[in-house]
Order: sequence, then structure tokens, then C-alpha cells
Amino acid sequence: MPAQTTSAPARPLSFSPRPVPLSATLAVNEAIARKRRQGVRVLPLGFGEAGIPIHPALTRELEAAAARGAYGPVAGSAVLRAAAAGYWSRRGLPTDPSVVVCGPGSKPLLFALLLSLGGDVVVPTPSWVTYAAQTSLVGARPIRVATPRGEGGVPSPALLADAVVRARAEGRTVRAVVVTLPDNPTGTLASEDTVRRLCSVARDLDLVVISDEIYRDLVHAPGRAVPSPARFAPERTVVTTALSKNLAAGGWRIGVARLPDGPFGRSLRDSLLGVASEIWSSAPAPMQHAAAYAFAEPSELVEHVDRSRRLHAAVTGAVAARFAEAGAEVTRPEAAFYVYPDFGPMRDGLRANHGVRTAADLTGLLLERYGVGVLPGSAFGEAPEVLRMRVAPSLLYGEDDEQRLAALASPAPAGLPWIAGALDRLGEVLDDLAENATAGQPAVA
Ligand SMILES: Cc1ncc(COP(=O)(O)O)c(C=O)c1O
Repeated sequence: MPAQTTSAPARPLSFSPRPVPLSATLAVNEAIARKRRQGVRVLPLGFGEAGIPIHPALTRELEAAAARGAYGPVAGSAVLRAAAAGYWSRRGLPTDPSVVVCGPGSKPLLFALLLSLGGDVVVPTPSWVTYAAQTSLVGARPIRVATPRGEGGVPSPALLADAVVRARAEGRTVRAVVVTLPDNPTGTLASEDTVRRLCSVARDLDLVVISDEIYRDLVHAPGRAVPSPARFAPERTVVTTALSKNLAAGGWRIGVARLPDGPFGRSLRDSLLGVASEIWSSAPAPMQHAAAYAFAEPSELVEHVDRSRRLHAAVTGAVAARFAEAGAEVTRPEAAFYVYPDFGPMRDGLRANHGVRTAADLTGLLLERYGVGVLPGSAFGEAPEVLRMRVAPSLLYGEDDEQRLAALASPAPAGLPWIAGALDRLGEVLDDLAENATAGQPAVA
């Protein structure tokens, strides 16, 4: 074929690509960057980034493996799978390395799992933006089920049973339920009783449980156990995790899945490896090397995660208090770096004074008028008029690594000038917003 000459007119295509919106968490980042470029003073509370520096021991390991350019086994290196198995075994989930599959982040692993399972998926409301979006991308439909009050991340077991029975009666194929322990966006951790009941429904209704435990090591109360469904329904639970949150290595793109033992788990593994082999071949070798080091949990990294847990607890607590003082209802954050205030008690005032009817109106107002970037509850599956929002304060820890390290080392990080300044600014914004907007009383539940 001769090459097209420059004189041939460009011919527009007759079709459009499938519309896939940018993930809301990434979109808010771009909106905040735009405001910054306009010279607006911003409070970046939208993006779920851990906000702490990478530990130097991890960069050292990564550098040591940088020359590894070859593809590796699809499931991941034997060293990494053994280390991840050890990590889970130390958390009360005995794990053989053969059930571990590694991927370039837990997000692609979740996507591959949904492709392998091939049916509709129950996702909690609210829940991390990606579960429902990925379910649609694989050609299935999400089934939304509300979580019990104060127990984000796990669909209410009774409502789960009703929803699945109803969907199946309509002829739908429902294969899985996703849970997040601890939860993004609410920053809470479901109780063992709720998880046990969820597992019992999953067993009765023949569902796979996908348990996203990426925030497991960031429960604020030291020693509080995470009730993994893998303990109560091991034959049907897949657990995923990564280094993205506890070690702030989201950009390194490395994650692991722990599949069930037994015949179902083995066939799921075969299918997952088939999908992985066609999408990512193998996770990046240098990252696998660093991840193996991390999952072996040397004391320097354990201390680093401990310090970050304390930092997240202190700052989310202070942020929750600001929202409560302004009249919002807030469940006290128990894990990770999220606060999920509910402006329902201020609804009438917000509507009368600011024309706010939906969570998106409210977060739009916060961004446009005050430069505060947060995500509306509707991004997490809530009805538009539910006035909840996810606030992620971890980008306030510092502008650079020097400040972030000082925040990690501080016994009272909320008092550091740059964090205290941001908290004061948040307080001012919320006071301004709440002026004449609230009839409610401050309440941190
Ligand atoms: C609940 C949850 N799961 C998974 C991820 C992403 O994980 P990864 O970086 O391993 O792809 C996130 C990141 O925001 C998350 O909040």
C-alpha cells in the first residue's frame, strides 16, 4: 500500500469510542490542579493518596532490582508469593504461596477477577468508585446494597439476600459481592458479626466474596482485628491488597490477590492467570522484588506503617471535629485517611442560602467558591440528593518530603503549622458555608 500523501483529505471517523468517564478520584485531582494554576488557594481533600514519603529501604530494594528487565511468571515471582503468603499467615489467614497471584496494582487484579467471574456483582453503597465502574466495563451490572449505619464497606446482610434473590428472579446471573475492610470512603470498619452474617448469606446464595483489604494495616486503634471474610467463608473468599496505601507506593503499581484453596479456587486461579497473561503478562519485576521485601515486614517498615497510622488517626480526627463543629454529622474515622461527613442536618439552610440540592452541588460550591476539593457521595453510589462527601486530608501532611517526614515524626501532627493552617482554613470555609445553614447541633457520633 502506498503511504497516504499529505494532499489526501483527512476523513473523520463515523463512530465514537465507548464513553468511559475519568475515575472521579482522578478527575478531582485535575480540577484542583486547574484551580491552582488559576492562582486560587486550594485545599486538596479529594484524592485518596496516602501522603507520606516512600521509605528509603523500599527505594534501596527497587534500585537493587532495576536491571531486571525480563518478563517473569504470570502469577508473580516465587519470592513475592511466599512473602505475601507470610504476610497473610501472620494475620490469621494461613496461606500457601500457590494461591497468591500478583498484578500491577490491586485495581487490575480486581478487574481481572470480575472478568473471570463473569456475572453481576453486588457492591456496597457507598463504596470505592471503581467497583461499580469495573463491573460495567466487564459487561455486567452492579447491584447496589446499602451498608449498615457506621459499618461502611459491607452490604447489609439482610438487604444483600433480598437484592440477590430479586435479581435472580429477574433472570440475572449474580456471582459475587465486594466488601472493603476497612472502608473507603467512610473510613470505618465493619464488625465481625456483620461480616459473619454476610458470609453466611454468601454461602446460602452461592456468591464469591471479594474482600478488598488494602487498608487493613491502617486501622487507627492498635490491635483492633480486621474481620476478614476469608476466616468465615474461606472456600469462596478472594482477598486483595497492595503497597499503595500502607506504604504509599500507589505509583509503583503492584498488588496481590489471595485466592481460595480448593477446587473452585484452583479454577479461578487458572482463569485469572489466563486473563492476566493477555493483559499484563507479569507485574514489573523490580516492583515485585521491592514488594517481596515489604511483605516480609522488616521492623523499619512496620514502624513506618505504625507512624503513618498514627498520623492518619490524628488528622482525620481533627478534620472530623471541624465538620462536626460546623453542624455536619460525622461518624468518627476508625481507619485509613478518610472522613465522610453528612450535611443532611444543614440541608434547608444550604438550599435556601446556596441553592444546594445535591452532593454534587455542594462539592461544586466548595471547589468553585472556596477552592476545597472533595468528592460527592454520589461518586460512591449514593443518591444525588444525599448530602454526603468524602474528605481525604492526607495531602495536607506536607508540600514536600521534609514536611511529610516531620508530620510522621510528630506526636501532635495536627498542631504543625502547615497542617494547623489548613485545618483553620477548613474551619473558616465550613463556618462560612454553615452561616444560617444549620439547625443541627455539632455531632461526632
Ligand atoms: C478500596 C481501594 N481498593 C483499591 C485501591 C487501588 O489499589 P491499587 O493502587 O493497588 O490499584 C484503592 C485506591 O484508592 C482503594 O481505595
